[in-house]
Amino acid sequence: MTKQITAIIVGAGHRALYYASYAKMHPESLKIVGVVDPNEFRRRMAAKEFGFSGAYCFKNVKELVKLPKLADAIINGTMDGDHVSTTLPLIARGYDILLEKPISVNEKDLLKLLKQSRKYRRKVMICHVLRYAPFYQKIKEYLKAGELGQLVNIQTTEHVSYHHMAVGFVRGKWNRKDKNNSSMLMSKSCHDLDLISWMESGIRPVAVSSFGSNMQFNKKNAPKGSGKYCLLDCKVEAKCPYSARKHYIWHPDRWSFYAWASLEHIAKPTIKQKIEALKSGSPFGRCVYRCDNNVVDHQSVVVEFEDGCTATHNMIGGVAKPTRSIHLIGTKGEIQGVLEENKFVIRKIDNRPGHEYSGKTVDLGSVSATFGGHGGGDLRMVKDFVAVAGGATPSISYTSIEDSIYGHLIGFRADLSMEKRKIAVIPRI
Ligand SMILES: NC(=O)c1ccc[n+]([C@@H]2O[C@H](COP(=O)([O-])OP(=O)(O)OC[C@H]3O[C@@H](n4cnc5c(N)ncnc54)[C@H](O)[C@@H]3O)[C@@H](O)[C@H]2O)c1
Repeated sequence: MTKQITAIIVGAGHRALYYASYAKMHPESLKIVGVVDPNEFRRRMAAKEFGFSGAYCFKNVKELVKLPKLADAIINGTMDGDHVSTTLPLIARGYDILLEKPISVNEKDLLKLLKQSRKYRRKVMICHVLRYAPFYQKIKEYLKAGELGQLVNIQTTEHVSYHHMAVGFVRGKWNRKDKNNSSMLMSKSCHDLDLISWMESGIRPVAVSSFGSNMQFNKKNAPKGSGKYCLLDCKVEAKCPYSARKHYIWHPDRWSFYAWASLEHIAKPTIKQKIEALKSGSPFGRCVYRCDNNVVDHQSVVVEFEDGCTATHNMIGGVAKPTRSIHLIGTKGEIQGVLEENKFVIRKIDNRPGHEYSGKTVDLGSVSATFGGHGGGDLRMVKDFVAVAGGATPSISYTSIEDSIYGHLIGFRADLSMEKRKIAVIPRI
């Protein structure tokens, strides 16, 4: 039984509120006692949801840190570019932090945050939710038990569905690095780069190279007859797989927290109101071939580790079926699996006469819906944070800031390599 901890939400958006919902399921473990958000509607919504007064609603972190410490911890779900500036003063005030990924949008801020967490000896846990998915947890357990020997190569892929690609990286909040701060690799696949460095835990990545581009979502590929907005001036909308009507009206719950954020002040927006929004300037009503996006739609990364192990990650957007896969090859065996299937195979050389290799399937069954998205990792991670902040021993998946630094450095340097068309060396920290 862990003790109850209290937490304040900083950035009451889609992610932070989802993590905070753990308090509703387990009030004995977590109590939400305040909120910081410049958006008045969101402050009021959080106060109503978790039952605290206006005295615990703050417009910014500065207002909160002026006061003595009001809770044990912070759930920081601000956007990528605000993570470090909001977290530094909170650490200094003595809060433990659950911080959304990516930790920062550049290396300088990454190291600044590391230094601050060490200086004040606060726990800063990063929301690398995939480490908490039973699929990856089990793989890590086999690896730790020495089943594969020494790792020789790690291969991961992330296939981003056409509708996820469109809502996040073409029409949405992560479609331009200059405006929205993160590259697609850092906002989408920093989880996979983290998994790679977690699997090679304790061994430094030394160099990285990367290639990628935006091949699909640009004016060159706009179909004849297409317009700027799907529901306003497009003659081929009915045939287009990226039609805003198909993505957001026919599937009203899919990505609704992104597509309908501008209508959140209306308790239940009607279809008419939604169509009107898509026609009159909503970024989600735009033709995917005529947006202002400049992030890649696919990128490949190759990493070399200090012990000679190599790794590749392939991120491809615009696919029919979203999947994440992993293939680990070690000196004594290999593991191969797909997250969405929630099972993997362990293979070993079998040199008995008449045999080539032997294999065992580890099937983790269906993921319990209670633990939410990312293969069941989301709320398992919150559970671990609550336990750690309450003084318990961290689980195998615990993601301290130290642990996450190399995964982030792989990402930042991969983007540099892609941009400069050169191998990038990863600095020692
Ligand atoms: N772990 C994951 O798998 C995962 C998945 C999706 C998104 N994310 C990350 O979660 C983060 C939040 O994404 P979201 O979609 O929930 O965002 P959001 O826009 O819904 O929420 C951000 C909130 O922060 C508030 N805010 C802005 N500036 C602030 C400040 N200075 N102080 C306090 N609050 C401030 C905004 O008003 C908003 O309410 C992003 O960094 C994103 O990359 C992580």
